[in-house]
Amino acid sequence: MQAVKIIVLLATILNSHAQQLNTNSFPDDFLFGVGTSAYQVEGAWNESDKSENIWDQLTHNYPDLVIDGSNGDVACDSYHHIDDDIAILRNLGVDFYRFSISWTRLLPNSYSNVISETGLQYYNNLIDALLAANIIPMVTIYHWDLPTELQKLGGWANPIIADYFADYAQVAFEQFGDRVKYWITLNEPQSFCPGYGSPNQAPVNVAEPGIGEYLCSYTALKAHAKAYHIYDERYRSTQQGVVGITALSNWFEPNTTSPEDIAAAEIAKQFNVGLYMHAIFGRDGDYPEVVKQAVANRSALEGFPFSRLPELTEEEIQYIKGTADFFGVNHYMTYVAAARDPDEIGEPSMEKDRGVSAWFDPSWEGAASSWLKVVPWGFSNLLMTLNNEYGYPMYVTENGYSDYGEIDDSRRTNYYQLYLSAVLDALSNGANIRGYTAWSLMDNFEWLDGFVNRFGLYYVNVSDPRTIKSSGEYFKQVIATRVVTTTSATVSTNGGSTTQAPTYGESNGGSLRIIIPPLSFLLLLVSAPVVPWIL
Ligand SMILES: *[C@@H]1O[C@H](CO)[C@@H](O)[C@H](O)[C@H]1NC(C)=O
Ligand SMILES: *[C@@H]1O[C@H](CO)[C@@H](O)[C@H](O)[C@H]1NC(C)=O
Ligand SMILES: *[C@@H]1O[C@H](CO)[C@@H](O)[C@H](O)[C@H]1NC(C)=O
Ligand SMILES: *[C@@H]1O[C@H](CO)[C@@H](O)[C@H](O)[C@H]1NC(C)=O
Repeated sequence: MQAVKIIVLLATILNSHAQQLNTNSFPDDFLFGVGTSAYQVEGAWNESDKSENIWDQLTHNYPDLVIDGSNGDVACDSYHHIDDDIAILRNLGVDFYRFSISWTRLLPNSYSNVISETGLQYYNNLIDALLAANIIPMVTIYHWDLPTELQKLGGWANPIIADYFADYAQVAFEQFGDRVKYWITLNEPQSFCPGYGSPNQAPVNVAEPGIGEYLCSYTALKAHAKAYHIYDERYRSTQQGVVGITALSNWFEPNTTSPEDIAAAEIAKQFNVGLYMHAIFGRDGDYPEVVKQAVANRSALEGFPFSRLPELTEEEIQYIKGTADFFGVNHYMTYVAAARDPDEIGEPSMEKDRGVSAWFDPSWEGAASSWLKVVPWGFSNLLMTLNNEYGYPMYVTENGYSDYGEIDDSRRTNYYQLYLSAVLDALSNGANIRGYTAWSLMDNFEWLDGFVNRFGLYYVNVSDPRTIKSSGEYFKQVIATRVVTTTSATVSTNGGSTTQAPTYGESNGGSLRIIIPPLSFLLLLVSAPVVPWIL
């Protein structure tokens, strides 16, 4: 059975067509960068006065949840390798570097009553070194590493955490805002909230399905808005920076043109992006109407006296609305979506509230991560939709491809070429996109995927020297030339994409180069679960 599937897949891949690449240049003021996050690269988990966060706790107490049982104790050891990181950033020629601050490194007590001298020194050194190298720091204040002490109080399910987050953000603005002009308050509430609804995700064993995710979303909105208002009131006039938030933004393609499937794709989109972002970016603020109705309806049928989705008061709606200078787009996933019959009334769940079937088309090329498929047209559709729906300036704050750490990573190069071309398509169609961040600068601790699935433009194994991959050379070339058409690209056939040959490029004289992935990759494709990891 497996063998048959492999043959079918191989045939599909061999049948790949070249995607028409966009030959435009990126605008002169378009910024290119690369991203990382504190827990994934810093290491030095217990250095000096740093205290424990929920990922230290997960990896130490539940190593079985991580594919290879690894942790971020050392990771890329960036805490001790500022110079090495700066050297590779310079080599790539990036305009900016997106990194995050570790809350417990800066504030070991979680609160602003104690600011760590060594933590402060580390981030000051990093920021100063970036500026000396002419690289703009783009700083994420929170990237999933909540202080364990705050989790003991309920973490993001407790709305009081919004005040503690704002207190922490205020320290960041105060200490670093003279030099940092790009701030991202929260990275992907879509990733840090599901842990309050399912037991095997950080912070582990605190799940209250169908309730916890919504409490987290509520707290995250308040936390973000409060930090934004603090910046606006106390720092903007002197520091003159911008403050945004990043969303894990998926594309949902309707399975058919039926009104039901189109509505299903829309609901899926609103449960993914809208639940966390509409109150900030939507023209009327508040949660999306379809999400409010869907949760309220099932809550009532389940016998709850009120909706499991907290209701925002008029005052809260006004307080949260418009609290961003840009929309940060983290993009990895495209799904096909279809309507389905409602689930039986029983235990609450966000998935049942959404009530949509979503899956990956089997013809889409996969990656090492089971949830990652190569669907560049989904990205351009997403960017256009976000542009039309919200109308904010956008930065792509993450986009990238996972494999197993090969140095000659032609599939990643191929991916970047197609996805950057999709950005050019959206720009041509009028989308207001100001910059693009490749995820990631280097291989790092990929959460529950440990060090198995790797996203780097550079290979790194702990503190070994960082080694550039072929994709790093490609991205460097894109930054230098501001066009994507320097080598060929292939993409699997699918319902929605352009399939015309020929491809572009000096290197191969226009002939199509088809790259056959290793058998291990195909096997993974076959065994990969089709269950969505995140809504
Ligand atoms: C820090 O953690 C390492 C394990 O990663 C351990 O060997 C070391 O003793 C710890 N250091 C301190 C000061 O606790
Ligand atoms: C998707 O559409 C196809 C027809 O194009 C149909 O056969 C299939 O059942 C649909 N899948 C779902 C889950 O609705
Ligand atoms: C919720 O229930 C109302 C009233 O029955 C109905 O009009 C609406 O379509 C339902 N919405 C959803 C998303 O199920
Ligand atoms: C990575 O480094 C560790 C520790 O130095 C070493 O044990 C391991 O073999 C290295 N792995 C690879 C693939 O080089």
